[in-house]
Amino acid sequence: MTNSDAMQRADALAEAYSGQREAPAFPSKAAIDALAGFQQPLPAAPSDPAEMIALMDRLGSPATVRNNSPHYFGFVIGAGLPAAMAAERLALAWNQCASDWVNSPAAAAIEAQAGRYVLEALDLPREAAVGFGTSATACGLALLAAARRHLLERAGWDFDADGLVGAPEIRVVVSETVHITVIKALRLLGFGVRRLVRAAVDDQGRIDPAQLPPLDDHTILCLQAGEVNAGAFDPFVPLIAAARAAGAWVHVDGAFGLWARATSALKPLTEGVEGADSWTTDGHKMLNTPYDGAMGICRVRDHVARAMDASAVYAPAGAEAQKNLTLEFSRRARGIAVWAALHTLGRAGLDALISSRVALAQRFAAGLRDLGVEVLNEVAFNQVLCRLGDDAATLALPAAIQADGRIWFGGTVWQGRPAFRISVASWATEAADVDRAVAIIGEVLRSKRHA
Ligand SMILES: Cc1ncc(COP(=O)(O)O)c(C=O)c1O
Repeated sequence: MTNSDAMQRADALAEAYSGQREAPAFPSKAAIDALAGFQQPLPAAPSDPAEMIALMDRLGSPATVRNNSPHYFGFVIGAGLPAAMAAERLALAWNQCASDWVNSPAAAAIEAQAGRYVLEALDLPREAAVGFGTSATACGLALLAAARRHLLERAGWDFDADGLVGAPEIRVVVSETVHITVIKALRLLGFGVRRLVRAAVDDQGRIDPAQLPPLDDHTILCLQAGEVNAGAFDPFVPLIAAARAAGAWVHVDGAFGLWARATSALKPLTEGVEGADSWTTDGHKMLNTPYDGAMGICRVRDHVARAMDASAVYAPAGAEAQKNLTLEFSRRARGIAVWAALHTLGRAGLDALISSRVALAQRFAAGLRDLGVEVLNEVAFNQVLCRLGDDAATLALPAAIQADGRIWFGGTVWQGRPAFRISVASWATEAADVDRAVAIIGEVLRSKRHA
């Protein structure tokens, strides 16, 4: 067999895999046990790539989590829009090192256009820089580094030359419900978890402006568009006004919630967020582009470009180069899938994609309430946060659903007590899939009551 046979076989198997709409959301124990078939010593000799693909499909495909299916409601995990997946396949064939224009004029042009589409779709300042990084975690790390560098520069400190020893302290204020990956980024940057100042939140997980800790021009304020459990949005108007008055930098983690701005009905949830200095968001959640693709957006291009600068004597590049807007130097052109999604959806398709996920989450919540499940959040976006009468029952339900395998969602802890959460993010989920999921939950609840 030739390499082209392997490609053709991979394409055919990928096509067949993608068509399996009704497969269980989580693999069976037998499929997981069969993964042991991958364990073997490094082969002594070359082998046929097409056979390798066949092996990968035979053992791997049945043991995948079907987050591309309509029946997956775990974490906040998107699926892959066919248009974005198709663009990804062609981009894979191009295999560009998309660090800057000289390495790939095509990638540089398409990612620049993707950035313009993103700013238009999210209605953020059109002059902002958009870096396409691996994840909201990585993009957040780049932007928080830019924020600190800028605040220190404004205070007369040369961070690039002198580092942090003896530097004025930069304080960071985060929400009590801040996402763990923002903490991770801050920890890696040396802020020290114990030194972070926590802002108190209300019952939905939104920062309470009345209890906002003092801010000054040495402060980074981290806000959230889409809290990971309840999907709630911080009240940006008063919080950003307070930050502006104090001269603080505002960073917004909008990993999934920032896409509310792409709909006319939900945009008010994010009112005022455009006044921030930096934003992170993912493609691989609500936009349904393939993993791993995220965006780090910075109001003043130079602030991120100078922090991320990776121009070398053998590879000079300006502030528009992706390698100077992200952590990566060599990188794949992950912005192409974002371009493909936005190009094919258009404004109307994007609005419909996001607003219909929210309508489905609300349908899910109504169905669960009819089953006697307590819905803890306002379901303003795509997350449904729930609890049963007692903690033991709350813990047992996701475990039973996961054992059943037909649909999948997970547990969490909310305000100190167990809860479970359902996330509607996949483009493929329709009303009938939500009704089926509610019926499965009802079935599992009834069987537990009988037991
Ligand atoms: C609110 C929020 N912030 C940040 C992240 C981190 O995103 P990523 O997994 O792309 O790093 C997530 C994702 O899971 C999230 O839900």
